[in-house]
Amino acid sequence: MKKTIVITGGAGFIGSHVVRLFVNKYPEYRIINLDKLTYAGNLANLKDIEDKPNYRFVRMDICDFEGIYKLMQDEHVDGIIHLAAESHVDRSIKDPFTFAQTNVMGTLSLLQAAKAYWESLPEKYEGKRFYHISTDEVYGALEMTHPDGIEPPFSTKASSGKHHLAYGEKFFTEELKYQPHSPYSAAKASSDHFVRAFHDTFGMPTIVTNCSNNYGPYQFPEKLIPLFINNIRHRKALPVYGKGENVRDWLYVEDHARAIDTIFHKGKIAETYNIGGFNEWKNIDIIKVLINTVDRLLGRPEGQDMDLITYVTDRAGHDLRYAIDSSKLQKELGWEPSLQFEEGIEKTVRWYLDNQEWMDNVTSGDYQNYYESMYGGR
Ligand code: NAD
Ligand code: TYD
Repeated sequence: MKKTIVITGGAGFIGSHVVRLFVNKYPEYRIINLDKLTYAGNLANLKDIEDKPNYRFVRMDICDFEGIYKLMQDEHVDGIIHLAAESHVDRSIKDPFTFAQTNVMGTLSLLQAAKAYWESLPEKYEGKRFYHISTDEVYGALEMTHPDGIEPPFSTKASSGKHHLAYGEKFFTEELKYQPHSPYSAAKASSDHFVRAFHDTFGMPTIVTNCSNNYGPYQFPEKLIPLFINNIRHRKALPVYGKGENVRDWLYVEDHARAIDTIFHKGKIAETYNIGGFNEWKNIDIIKVLINTVDRLLGRPEGQDMDLITYVTDRAGHDLRYAIDSSKLQKELGWEPSLQFEEGIEKTVRWYLDNQEWMDNVTSGDYQNYYESMYGGR
C-alpha cells in the first residue's frame, strides 16, 4: 500500500538508520526526511540512499508549525515517525532551554500540525499514525542491589523466559512511573506526556517507544562509544566520568531501527513498548573492550592503550543504572535483537576505523557544508 511518511531527525544517528531501512525496504512508500540539520544532523549519513526516487529531504525545524502543516497538506502525509530531538545529556546540563524548545515545543508543534491536517480529511485519523521515539532515561535510574546480597552482575530470567546478566533486580517496565533526572530526560518525558495526551484528548493514533542506549555507525562523537574509539585511535585521553561504575543497557542501532519498523506496522495504538537487548554493561568494562578491540584491529599490542583511561569529575546527577525489560515487545510483536554485543562492538569499531573520513569531517565541522554542496543552500 502506498504511504507518505515523514521521519523527523532522519539526518541524525538513529534517524539515518530508520530512513535507510524504510527507503530500501518499502519502495512503494514515500519517505520524507524532515531535519533542521543542527550540529547533530549530517546528510553524509544518507549518501547511499539520497538519489532513491522514494526519498526526499526537507530542511525544517520541528518547531515551525506553519511549515509542517503546509508540508503535510502538500504531501498528504499519512504517518510521522518522530526522532528529531536534542539528545546529549551533557549538553542538556549546560543548555536546558534548547532541550525544552526542541524536545517539548517541537513535539507539540508536530502534534498540532498533524491534528489540524488529519482532522481536516474526510477519513480523519483512519490509517494515520504518530509514532514518537523516546528513551528509557524517562524512568530515572535503577539501583545495583540484590535482595540476597549477591554481587552483580548475576544471571537472571526475564519475563520473556530468557536468561541474561543483570546489575540489579529491578528493570524498566512500561508500567513504571516517570522519574527523569536530567534536563534531557525531563524534556523527553514531557514530550511523551504530550503525545499520550493527544491520543486521550483528540483520539490521535499515537504510539510511544522507550529505548535503551544505542551504538553503531554514524553516531556523533560526543557520545561514549564513538568518542572513545576515535580517542583511542589517536591516543588521546579517555575521560571516564566518576569511577566508570555506571551501567547502561546497549542495543545495536539497526536492531532499534528494525524494532521501529515492526512497531510502526504492527504496534497497537496508544501503547507503549520498551526496546532493549537485555545487555547491561559497566562503562569501564565497555571502555576496556573498546581499547582491546581498537588495539587489535590497528595491529597494536592488545591493551597497550589502557593508560589512556583518565578518571574525571562525575557528570552532575549521573544516573547509576539503566536496564530495559523489553519482554512485552518480544512476546507481543515477536521482535528480537539480532546481534550479540561482542559482534556488534566489533562491527562498530571496524566501521569507525574504516570510515575515518566521516569521522574527520564531523570532528572538523566540514560536514556542515554538505547540505550547501548538495542542495545549493536551498
Ligand atoms: P541525534 O542527536 O544523533 O540526532 C538528532 C537529529 O535531530 C539530528 O539530525 C538533528 O539535526 C535533528 N534535530 C534536532 N533538533 C531539531 C529541530 N528543532 N528540528 C528538526 N530537526 C532537529 O539523536 P539520536 O541519538 O539519533 O536520537 C534520535 C532519537 O532517539 C531522539 O529522540 C532520542 O531521544 C531518541 N533515543 C536515542 C537513544 C540513543 O542512544 N542515542 C536511545 C533512546 C532514544
Ligand atoms: P552517553 O553516551 O553520553 O549516553 P547517556 O548519557 O545517554 O547514557 O554516555 C554513556 C555513559 O558513559 C554514561 O554513563 C556517561 C559515560 N561517559 C563517560 O564516562 N565519559 C564521556 O566522555 C561520555 C561522553 C560519557
